[in-house]
Amino acid sequence: MKKSIIDPMDLSVEEISDLLDLANDIMKDRTRYQDVAKHKILATLFFEPSTRTRLSFESAMLSLGGSVLGFPNANVSSATKGESVTDTIWTVSCYSDIIAMRHPKEGAPRVAMRRSKVPLINAGDGGHNHPTQTLTDLLTIQREKGRLNNLTVGFCGDLKFGRTVHSLLKALSRYEGVKFVFISPEELKLPEYLKEDLLDAKHLEYKEVRTMEEVMGELDILYMTRVQQERFFNEQDYLRLRDTYILDLNKLELAKKDLTIMHPLPRVNEISTEVDDDPRACYFKQVENGRYVRMALILTLLSLDHEVERL
Ligand code: CP
Repeated sequence: MKKSIIDPMDLSVEEISDLLDLANDIMKDRTRYQDVAKHKILATLFFEPSTRTRLSFESAMLSLGGSVLGFPNANVSSATKGESVTDTIWTVSCYSDIIAMRHPKEGAPRVAMRRSKVPLINAGDGGHNHPTQTLTDLLTIQREKGRLNNLTVGFCGDLKFGRTVHSLLKALSRYEGVKFVFISPEELKLPEYLKEDLLDAKHLEYKEVRTMEEVMGELDILYMTRVQQERFFNEQDYLRLRDTYILDLNKLELAKKDLTIMHPLPRVNEISTEVDDDPRACYFKQVENGRYVRMALILTLLSLDHEVERL
């Protein structure tokens, strides 16, 4: 595989399966992979803030013996002088072997990709896509549930702007027997284009509700999300909507004993910290899995995925 990853649908189900298998193998003993990407350079270009995605990409490359360069915000790049994203990527692709890029504008990585001389990975573009979070989420679901099919998945919170929701929904739509439950206020419902072009077009089973309580007992996966303050035009709307859903131990009493609670993080108030010690809480497992699945993706895009014998 020698290509850029802009949208989760850029990966076939078979390619995703291979990536998850490789991530699982790395997790068995990562020291076997510690020199595989020696002399390779990852550039991380973050035009928008990040903790997990940027640092997990960097940790992944360093764990493979490679090197990392880049910038954590656009203010220290020539973007401040008016340089286009395309020229920035063209330039950085002369200095690196692979690029991970986050940008607040939807579609920016796809435009930039055309001038990149090396594989480009979308590390989140506006409210659009976040394919490597999706790989992290799929690895977590597979490890927790032992499958990616026959699941009832509830997405809760900001389904309008949440790119992790849009990406994971697209990816899961390809697995048999997955049902979706969307829990959001009216103002933060899933965009129509995803309902019409994806769910309705594929005749997938889904419903939209307003409260967590009415569906909690049905869910195998509960995917909580933060209300995306940075994508609101109006501060008052954000303040009114931000605490609509708070998962606490009382609400969890309605849930299945083997519910998997996920959140791409960062959280604000959506999950009470009292839930953190519940065995169903998997959001910090997602954080950890993100490093290994990004190691697998880097190896695969650099065609280094068969360098180590699998355990
Ligand atoms: N999940 C995620 O994208 O987190 P960061 O914004 O911290 O990278």
